[in-house]
Amino acid sequence: MSETVQDKVDFLVVANRLPVDRKVDDDGNVSWKSSPGGLVTALEPVMQRKGGAWIGWHGAPDEVVAPFHHDGYDIHPVPLSAQEVEEYYEGFANATLWPLYHDCIVEPVFHREWWDAYQKVNKRFAEQAAEQASTGATVWVQDYQLNLVPKYLREMRPDLRIGFFLHIPFPPIELYSRLPWREELVEGLLGADLVGFQTPGAAANFQRLAKHRPGVTAARGRARTPDGRTVVIHDFPISIDSRGFHELATSEKVQAEAAKLREDLGNPETIIFGVDRLDYTKGLHQRIRAVGELFKEGKLDPHEVVFLQLATPSRERVEEYRILRDDINLLVGQINSKVGTIANRAVVYRNESVPREVLAAMYQVADLMLVTPVRDGMNLVAKEYIACRSNDDSALVLSEFAGAARELKQAYMVNPYDIDGMKATIMKALAESPKVKARKMRSMRRQVFDKTIDVWANSFLEELGVA
Ligand code: ADP
Ligand code: F6P
Repeated sequence: MSETVQDKVDFLVVANRLPVDRKVDDDGNVSWKSSPGGLVTALEPVMQRKGGAWIGWHGAPDEVVAPFHHDGYDIHPVPLSAQEVEEYYEGFANATLWPLYHDCIVEPVFHREWWDAYQKVNKRFAEQAAEQASTGATVWVQDYQLNLVPKYLREMRPDLRIGFFLHIPFPPIELYSRLPWREELVEGLLGADLVGFQTPGAAANFQRLAKHRPGVTAARGRARTPDGRTVVIHDFPISIDSRGFHELATSEKVQAEAAKLREDLGNPETIIFGVDRLDYTKGLHQRIRAVGELFKEGKLDPHEVVFLQLATPSRERVEEYRILRDDINLLVGQINSKVGTIANRAVVYRNESVPREVLAAMYQVADLMLVTPVRDGMNLVAKEYIACRSNDDSALVLSEFAGAARELKQAYMVNPYDIDGMKATIMKALAESPKVKARKMRSMRRQVFDKTIDVWANSFLEELGVA
């Protein structure tokens, strides 16, 4: 494969984020770090196998960065000004659409200037894709930050095959209808040939909206647009590179890291683990409260049990994320000041991102995994845990509001809003017989190893007619 950036390519991914984030320290030194979030975890192995180009923002404002070759594919950084980061990314994408699409857990904010910035930036992404795509190329647009790209791109390049995949939930019409620009966003997505969602429910919500557009008919997963095109609407539950995660987790290096980690945590009998972006959709508050109460009530003994919670800082300039960060710090402090000792902290909370090997070691030592979002498109952490465990004596507690709950049916399901229910389920999972735990793990392992990220990508691209 060529190491130089190609002029035009047959396959492009367009996503707000690139797989790597550019960081510049106070002395002006530049480094690249792996980007946060499930989209990058899922798409990186697809691009490594397929090649082509990835178009996205490199994570720093006011910088133009030249295209470069990375891990077998080309990277085309799209520049954003500081004002665009504020209005398009932090504003419209993450303070308007993100809460709206996640059941309005927090109140979505509507600003007309943010909408203007969203249109302008979506146009820039579309122009960049149009520039890089060869005749008849496939362009795969990702996620809620780029809802308008399919329509803009089709106007610029009618020869392209255009797919769109939404990584997060798609809300019911009753919530979606609050959006002042609801028509424009639906039109944006209808520019694609195929619009994919995580679940059948999300696909049905979109189909119902599409049907309300003038001149559009939509039924049984197909919409006919006024210009005579057919847009397929379907669910494609996303996954991970299961084998890659498993091989990493069982490697000697990670096993050694896991042994050291267990020791650093004081060799407890039981390790409970959670790992998320620090996001209000992840149900961190409810989860930490539930475990904290179990410690306070003496049902969990801090000499025997440690709860390790990792939370990657995320979208830190958006107000709701700042409030959450302070809230969680306070809650963890309150729990640890009442239970445990200096040597035996009940809750070990780390507000940081860790390299993949360290994360795999954490999955290796986790006897019980807590994945309790109040709403989540899929949640890849749940699948990573299953893929990384080589020990059958393990248990996954999973929110029924995560897309993953449709597939990992053998998990211990919880409603994260029901703190008492969650506490009871955690205790049940901890007390379960090894035989039942092993049966559940085997069944979930089959699911995660059968339905891998390759299966996801191939089924989407086949439906798009390009695999
Ligand atoms: P989202 O896309 O909303 O962030 P997912 O659970 O689907 O949620 O994906 C999160 C991804 O980010 C997973 O691949 C997970 O391993 C990774 N991740 C989350 N928190 C951390 C962390 N603290 N350190 C390293 N990786 C993390
Ligand atoms: O998977 C959902 C998602 O919002 C991705 O689109 C995004 O890249 C990731 O989470 C992390 O969020 P951000 O890019 O805002 O840091």
